[in-house]
Amino acid sequence: MKILVTGGAGYIGSHTCVELLNAGFDVFVLDNLSNSKTESLRRVEIITGKPVTFVQGDVRDRECLKAIFKAHEITAVIHFAGLKAVGESCEQPLNYYDNNVYGSIVLAQEMEKANIKKLVFSSSATVYKESAVQPLTEDMPLGTTNPYGASKLMVEDIFRDLEVADKLNNHSLPWSITLLRYFNPVGAHESGLIGEDPNGVPNNLMPFISQVAIGKLGQLSIFGDDYPTIDGTGVRDYIHVVDLAKGHVKAVQAMLNGLTGVNAINLGSGQGLSVLQLVEAFESENNIAIKRKIVGRRAGDIAEYFGSAKKAKKLINWQTELDVNAMVRDSWYWQSKNPNGYE
Ligand code: NAD
Ligand code: WQD
Repeated sequence: MKILVTGGAGYIGSHTCVELLNAGFDVFVLDNLSNSKTESLRRVEIITGKPVTFVQGDVRDRECLKAIFKAHEITAVIHFAGLKAVGESCEQPLNYYDNNVYGSIVLAQEMEKANIKKLVFSSSATVYKESAVQPLTEDMPLGTTNPYGASKLMVEDIFRDLEVADKLNNHSLPWSITLLRYFNPVGAHESGLIGEDPNGVPNNLMPFISQVAIGKLGQLSIFGDDYPTIDGTGVRDYIHVVDLAKGHVKAVQAMLNGLTGVNAINLGSGQGLSVLQLVEAFESENNIAIKRKIVGRRAGDIAEYFGSAKKAKKLINWQTELDVNAMVRDSWYWQSKNPNGYE
C-alpha cells in the first residue's frame, strides 16, 4: 500500500518515511524543498534499504496532485507540508495562511475527487488555549495567539466540518482524518543519518543546544528562570521524533482498520521537562558542558504545558518509548556527524 507524504523531505516527514517503509508501506513524497533537501530522502533509502518515490512540487498545485492521484494508487495521505515558525508567521501571515490553510484545502479537494479519504494532518499543541490545568487533553479549549497557530486551528476546524458534511450527505465513503497534535519533537534517528536541519540560527531549544555543543553557537540563552515551574525555567513535553514518526504509522494503521471520523489526538510523552532539566540531561548523557546564561522571558512563551497521551493509547495504540536520554544522545550524534546539516 502506497502512502503519499507531503513535506516528506522535512524533519518529521523524513523520519516518518523511515517508519512507514519499515512497516511495509510504499512511500511517495511530494515536497517543494522550501525547507529541506533531497539528501534527507537519499539517506532514508540508505537506512531502510528501500526506495522512496519523490516528486518536487507544491501541495497547492492541483495539476500536480491530480497527476499523482491518477498515476498512483494512494491509500492514505500524511500531510506535513507547511510552514512552522511562530515568529515568522507574525511577519508573514498571508504566506502562512496561503501555505498552511489553502494548501490543506487544495489537498483535501483533490483527495475527495480521487476518492481518497484517509488523511493524517500535522497539527500542533499550539492550538490549545493557555491553561493552568495540565496535562492538556484533547477536549480542552482551543485558541491561538499567532498566525501559525491560527493556521493549524483553521485547518482542524475545516476538517471537522468535513465530518459534519459527511453525515448530512450520507456519503458512502466518509472521511477518516486524524489530527495529530505534536508537542515538542526533538532528537534524530539513531543512525545519525537524518535529523533536524534548521535554516539559520535555530528558534527551538534542542537544535540550539546541539549547535552550542558543536561550537557553531557560543552559548545558550535561557529565556527566563522566574516562571512558576519546578526550577523557574519553561516546562515542555519533549517527544523523540522517532516516537512521533511511529505515531503516524499507528494512525494510518488505525484508519485502515476502521477508525473513521475526525479525531484529534495528542502525540506527547505525558510529562513535562524544564529547560534546565533538558540542558543537564544533554550534558550528562554526552559528557559535554553547555555554556548558558539566564536572560529575560521570550515574548509569547508560557510557563508550562504538556499533553495527556491517554487518547493516543486508546485510539491508535501508541505511546512514547524513548526517554530524554535517547533524545539528547541522538540529537548530539546527528549534530556531531552533520555539523552543517545536509549541506
Ligand atoms: P520541516 O520544515 O522540516 O518540514 C516541512 C516540509 O514541508 C519541508 O520539507 C518543506 O520543504 C515542505 N513544504 C513546505 N511548504 C510546502 C508546500 N506548499 N508544498 C510542498 N512542500 C512544502 O518541518 P517539520 O518540523 O518536519 O514539521 C512538519 C509539520 O509538522 C509542519 O506542518 C509543522 O507545522 C508541524 N509541526 C512541527 C512541530 C515541530 O516542532 N517541528 C511541532 C508541531 C507541528
Ligand atoms: C522550548 C523551551 C523556551 C530556545 C515551539 C512552537 C510550537 C511548536 C514547537 C510548531 C521554552 C526555551 C528555547 C532558546 C530557551 N512548533 N528556550 N532558549 O516554544 O515550546 O514550541 O516549537 O508547531 O508551535 O511554539 O519550543 O524549543 O522554542 O522552546 O530558553 O534558545 O525552551 O523559552 O521554554 P516551544 P522551543
